[in-house]
Formats: sequence, C-alpha cells, structure tokens
Amino acid sequence: MLVAHRGASNTAPENTLAAVQKALDSPADFIEIDVHQTRDSQLVVMHDATLDRTTNGEGAIAEHTLAEIKKLDAGNWFKPEFKNERVPTLEEVLQLVKGRKKLLIELKKGKDFYPGLANQTIGLLRKYRVREWCVLQSFHDEILQQIWQNEYQVPTHKLMVGKLPLVPVYFDTSLRFGSFDKYYRASAINVHRYFASRRFVKMVHNAGFKTFVWTVDDPAEINKLVNRGVDGVLSDAAATLAVE
Ligand code: G3P
Ligand code: CA
Repeated sequence: MLVAHRGASNTAPENTLAAVQKALDSPADFIEIDVHQTRDSQLVVMHDATLDRTTNGEGAIAEHTLAEIKKLDAGNWFKPEFKNERVPTLEEVLQLVKGRKKLLIELKKGKDFYPGLANQTIGLLRKYRVREWCVLQSFHDEILQQIWQNEYQVPTHKLMVGKLPLVPVYFDTSLRFGSFDKYYRASAINVHRYFASRRFVKMVHNAGFKTFVWTVDDPAEINKLVNRGVDGVLSDAAATLAVE
C-alpha cells in the first residue's frame, strides 16, 4: 500500500485540501492526515500542535477557536501559489475524499490530551458511514483504548517509536519493542523506517499484525522495504513517484 503522508505533501502544503486533492489524483492507496482539537472542540487537520510552522498564526491549536484558525493562511509558507489555503476540518476532508481512497487518520495530542478526541472523531466517522475506508492510528495507548472501547468499531493501527539511531541505517531494535500482545485489537504496528529491519517485519507478521513504515521518498528504499515484506509505505512523494 502506498500512503500519501500528510496528503501529497511534497507537491502541496501538508494536511490541506490541496494536498488531499493531489493525493486523490495520485497512485496512492491511502491518504494519511493528522488531527488536533481546537479550543471550541472542533477537529482540525494539522500535524503540529502549534500554528507556527504551517500557518501565519502562532500558539497552540488548543488555545484557538476554529473561526480564528480558519482566518489563517496554511499555504503560503510552502509556496506562494498556495496562498489562502486554509486549515481544513476533518469533516471537510471526509467530504472531499468520499471513499475514493482510504484515509489513515492519526489522532494527535497537544501539550495535554484533547478531551473526547477519540469519541468525537468516531462520531464523525459514524455520521459519514466511513468504516470501510477509514483507519484510525495513534502513538498514544490512551487514545487507542478510547477507540477500542467505542461501540462503533473502526480499524486501528498502533504507531511505535523507539530511540532513533544517529546514523541513517536500518537498526535492529525489534526486540526493544517487547510484546505486542496488548495491541491485539489493532490490525497493524507501524514504525519509523529505521526500525523496519527484516527481523522486525517477521516479528510483527508472526504476531498477526501488518506493518506500515514512515516516511520513505526514495524509490530504491521503497523497493527494499517491499522486498522485506512491509505492508505499507508512507511517502511525502506519493504524487511524484513512478509506481509500478
Ligand atoms: O503515520 C505515521 C507518521 O505520520 C508519524 O509521524 O510525525 O509524520 O505524524 P508524523
Ligand atoms: Ca502523522
């Protein structure tokens, strides 16, 4: 599976409707986006917990209302041609994608966990009846637990991160992750590419999970990971890769 990471984020500003549209037009199977919650409990699609890097605003998302965030420019930082691109809500992304690709939705946290983020997201997925084409993922076990406790069952992926090696090589830290037993409700255990050793891939597969790996833009490396048996690759370059 090819996953457009934060949308087609090397051709349009990450996590905007422009990036999602370019990913829809690309060979990607999945589109990955990140979700945070505003001060007035609205779900917005942005990677960082703060506005500073990808908009002309500043401060935490959790301290701003949706109306305030909607006034910000989320495109000019990337390229002037995207000036006036806005921070989308999760609902706007669902309405744009409409099942044409799968959506991998990462639930983030700010300085603190967002109140009711998991249940609110699931409420929206339920409203749009998108169980067939949406997957929720998170680094945080607290968020995954809330998803798993909801009566509306949505597929989930667990994101794992270990201590990243200083040199850019595959680093066999598989055993540091320990047992995956407590994630039995998830369908995949996803890792940074440095952890996707052959042994790791075998280990997660033997435990009954798939594994998606982030973030890989070099076609040769993607081929190497596919040969190792990884099930999905997240790439910023999904719209520009020549995919066989
Ligand atoms: O899907 C996993 C990957 O997106 C996690 O890293 O920082 O890009 O959200 P990040
Ligand atoms: Ca993400």
